[in-house]
Amino acid sequence: MITIKNTHELELMRRACKITAAARALAGEMVRPGVSTKAIDRAVHDYIVSQGAKPSFLHYHGYPASACISVNDTVIHGIPGGYLLKEGDIVSVDVGALYQGFHGDCAATFACGAISTEARKLIDVTKQSFFEGIRFAVKGNRVQDISHAIQTYVESNGFSVVRSFVGHGVGRQLHEEPEVPNFGHPGRGPRLLSGMTIAVEPMVNAGTYEVRVLKDGWTTVTADGKLSAHYENTVLITDGEPEILTVTEGL
Ligand code: MF3
Ligand code: CO
Repeated sequence: MITIKNTHELELMRRACKITAAARALAGEMVRPGVSTKAIDRAVHDYIVSQGAKPSFLHYHGYPASACISVNDTVIHGIPGGYLLKEGDIVSVDVGALYQGFHGDCAATFACGAISTEARKLIDVTKQSFFEGIRFAVKGNRVQDISHAIQTYVESNGFSVVRSFVGHGVGRQLHEEPEVPNFGHPGRGPRLLSGMTIAVEPMVNAGTYEVRVLKDGWTTVTADGKLSAHYENTVLITDGEPEILTVTEGL
């Protein structure tokens, strides 16, 4: 079932999403050589808790941390630990916060110091593909109108979109219907309605779109060892332009 949020529910979603976006920003500011991924996770955890919220990912299907921190060829679900970031790494940070019954979900890839031209392009194309996609996040359109726009933009820049993980509805549950793939065909998928909240999250690989999951059951890496980037916001479908909820303005 695709849930439509009422005005009151959207107010709570906005607050959850602002906390989530601030946690992402905080994590991004910590990305520099010598910092451990677990230090970033700790800061994300403590910030979310300080806001009266709960980290959405902690213990979700047994996930052991508050943030997913995915470095270089790790696509998503990197488990924070003792790894020390080094100059040239690209670092995807994905966070979620549950506030008064509603989840926010967002991610971004950050540069650790100076990075290669190719890595910079990958980060920029991934972020821009989100904005290309949400141009179609308009009521009356279909979910795959968004998907197709993301795929087209990414592939026209010589990169590939991950197939085996997708965006999703978000609200009282971290993952709700509908699925929001980053590939697809215009005019297909569920119709977008005002009051739907969806996490649009392109995962973009420099090489093949194929990924594999490591033995820990979480860490998802590119099959060819090339770089991957991620960008995600929680987005509200309105009667007009889409509203990005995971923003830090107004905090
Ligand atoms: N943003 C990711 C998602 O939408 C985060 C889930 S990670 C998990 O699926 F650890 F919570 F599983
Ligand atoms: Co998500």
